Amino acid sequence: MEATEAVSAAGVFADDSSIRDLTIRALEPCDAQDVKLVCNQLFPIDYTDEWFENICSSARFFTLAVFVNGRLIGLLVAEIRHHSKINLEDDGLLGSFFPDTAQAAYIMSLGVLQPYRRHRLASTLLDHLLQYLTSGDRVDTVRCVFLHTMSDNTAAISFYYRHHFRQHRLLKEYYVINESNGDAICFVRYLNGVSPPMSFWDFISFLGSRCFMPSACLGCMMRCVRVVRQLFASVVEHKNPAVGNGCSAGAADMAKEDAKLMA
Ligand SMILES: CC(C)(COP(=O)(O)OP(=O)(O)OC[C@H]1O[C@@H](n2cnc3c(N)ncnc32)[C@H](O)[C@@H]1OP(=O)(O)O)[C@@H](O)C(=O)NCCC(=O)NCCS
Repeated sequence: MEATEAVSAAGVFADDSSIRDLTIRALEPCDAQDVKLVCNQLFPIDYTDEWFENICSSARFFTLAVFVNGRLIGLLVAEIRHHSKINLEDDGLLGSFFPDTAQAAYIMSLGVLQPYRRHRLASTLLDHLLQYLTSGDRVDTVRCVFLHTMSDNTAAISFYYRHHFRQHRLLKEYYVINESNGDAICFVRYLNGVSPPMSFWDFISFLGSRCFMPSACLGCMMRCVRVVRQLFASVVEHKNPAVGNGCSAGAADMAKEDAKLMA
């Protein structure tokens, strides 16, 4: 996001008059220390100082931060990746038939500090990201947005379902937190008119649903009857050439005989 956006604090926090000023803007290099403090409260993952500096300064990342009365209270960090750069554990997000230009956006972090939750702040950040991904040249290149969350993070799971994400895959023991392993869910939302790729089982169930539709079933039976009749006719014709094409010649002969008799 280029410019700073002032959001009506009174609108978002109608129940809290101490919140006077609410601002949303991209991260800047001077935010690195605050981002580190906030991320330490939000995520059970250890990031390096280099990572904090990078996300606050590199144009590679799409970043947004929410400030309440000048204090950082939430953020979103995402990166647009070329589809050949999607990690192996997330393969299948985009089918191999997608062109080389296809890209996927990856949400690396999204969080809001506890006292400020359930005021649609994370939704606002996500909406800005979606707006960015579905405008400009990205309409032709960005095919989906995806992320990982812990499989027991019920708030995040509800949040992403609410925003029309679907579960792509359960990743067993994806996270290592305090020396123990935790499962992750990869969530994805397809964008810019792209439909989710069809798995083998999706394809089978699609075929099944077509075959068991009464009208499709009747059409199928009629086609089978026609094919059997044609086969039968060609076998009979093969055995007795008078039947088939020869039949019309026989009818003409009979007509001639009739004409002679009448004369
Ligand atoms: C998940 C998280 C980002 C949501 O932030 P938020 O600002 O509270 O979210 P919103 O107010 O925009 O919520 C939008 C919708 O998401 C769902 N949701 C959000 N938090 C929820 C919760 N705790 N329980 C159930 N549903 C929840 C609801 O449907 C909610 O709509 P509603 O309030 O009208 O019912 C926040 O809980 C958080 O920062 N968690 C810690 C960090 C994290 O887990 N990040 C996600 C992994 S990247």
